[in-house]
Amino acid sequence: MDINYRKTAENRLISDWTDLICELSNQSHSIAIGVFDSEAQLLEANQAMCFFLDTDCSKLQPKNSFINPEFSCFLTDKNKELVFDGLMTIGNYSDISYVVNAKVFRKNDRIMVYAETDILNLFEENKKMSVLNQEVNNLQRQLIKEKKNLQATLAELKETQQMLIHSEKMNAMGKLVAGVAHELNNPIAFVYSNLFSLEKYNAEVFDTIKQIERLIDQTGNQELIVSMSNLMKSNDLEYLKEDLTDLTKESKVGVERVRTIVEDLRRFSRLDESDLKQVDLIENIRSTISIVKAEISKKSIDFKFVSPDHLLVNCFPGQLNQAILNVLVNAIQAVEESGQVIVTVSVEKNTVIIEIKDNGDGIPDEIKTRIFEPFFTTKPVGSGTGLGLSITYKIIHDLHQGAIELDSTLHKGTKMKLLIPKKI
Ligand SMILES: Nc1ncnc2c1ncn2[C@@H]1O[C@H](COP(=O)(O)OP(=O)(O)O)[C@@H](O)[C@H]1O
Ligand SMILES: [Mg+2]
Repeated sequence: MDINYRKTAENRLISDWTDLICELSNQSHSIAIGVFDSEAQLLEANQAMCFFLDTDCSKLQPKNSFINPEFSCFLTDKNKELVFDGLMTIGNYSDISYVVNAKVFRKNDRIMVYAETDILNLFEENKKMSVLNQEVNNLQRQLIKEKKNLQATLAELKETQQMLIHSEKMNAMGKLVAGVAHELNNPIAFVYSNLFSLEKYNAEVFDTIKQIERLIDQTGNQELIVSMSNLMKSNDLEYLKEDLTDLTKESKVGVERVRTIVEDLRRFSRLDESDLKQVDLIENIRSTISIVKAEISKKSIDFKFVSPDHLLVNCFPGQLNQAILNVLVNAIQAVEESGQVIVTVSVEKNTVIIEIKDNGDGIPDEIKTRIFEPFFTTKPVGSGTGLGLSITYKIIHDLHQGAIELDSTLHKGTKMKLLIPKKI
């Protein structure tokens, strides 16, 4: 119906458009028609034109106007009937603008705008486009974020894998150490006992020589006495006796040291002993300390161990040693060269308190709740696995039904107390 209307309207326009103006009441959505006087006053308009000009059909007071071309352009040529034919922009110079295909006719002091309303609401289209654009941008941003997240997860996984490999290595090493310590125990034991025999035999040999010398002296045979004395001098028997005694003594000290190390390692790793046992905690801590002795002396740390001589505790010795070692290693790592680390063992009622105190960097408040999480570390890859405290937590809390108390001040130091019941 609109198409027919348009065709008739166009045909009639070309011949005579005064009649058409009278028919403006015939409303059409596809053709907008408006009649103006030379002062740009809107005299008549159909509904479509009223819509573009943003006015009530009964008032005819447009809020929108012709932006391009402007109304004044239609007044230039008095002799022409068709004064404009092309794309026309109607709007309010700011947010609303319609583009229509228009013909403008002039007859005397009347201007008629005839516009085909295959319009594009540029503003609306623009708005839609920018919404779409924004959506695309958002999606893009989200993709970038997801990608970053994935990359971070991948890095985290790689680190976790490295740490797992490391902890597996440590586990394997623990077993190896326990095995080697066990294997070393026998030969060391017989070298140690042989040294005692050697010392005893030495003394007996020199004693015998002394007796022979005395017997020769008693014979009064000068020739024999001189030969004996020369023999002893030429072999430097006095020196040999002295040196042999020193050598066996030193060897004994050496072997004793090896024996202590092996015993420490064995006591520390105790992987074969996963049962609850009554042990001397002080002896166990001494062994644990000797494992890190080298680290302590490397940094020339002022190290103190304050404890009763013996303290029998019911515990899982191997695991407890591991828990203490982890805290001790952290304390050693936290202090600068020539810092201070103090290990104190005390008993309050039925609770054993193992306190490890350092005057290192301290722990910032914001990470205090995180340090017991597995894999949480502030140390570079290779020097920290982030597993130490999570293992300690498990051993103290779960295995020994104990507790850990943390007291740390930034730049001042850290005090960590491991509390376990004397008897589980
Ligand atoms: N004595 C301490 N002084 C300062 N920071 C500590 C101390 N003990 C633990 N921490 C902090 O807790 C984190 C976790 O410790 P841990 O679980 O043993 O893992 P790792 O030592 O491998 O980093 C450390 O990286 C460190 O930031
Ligand atoms: Mg650690």
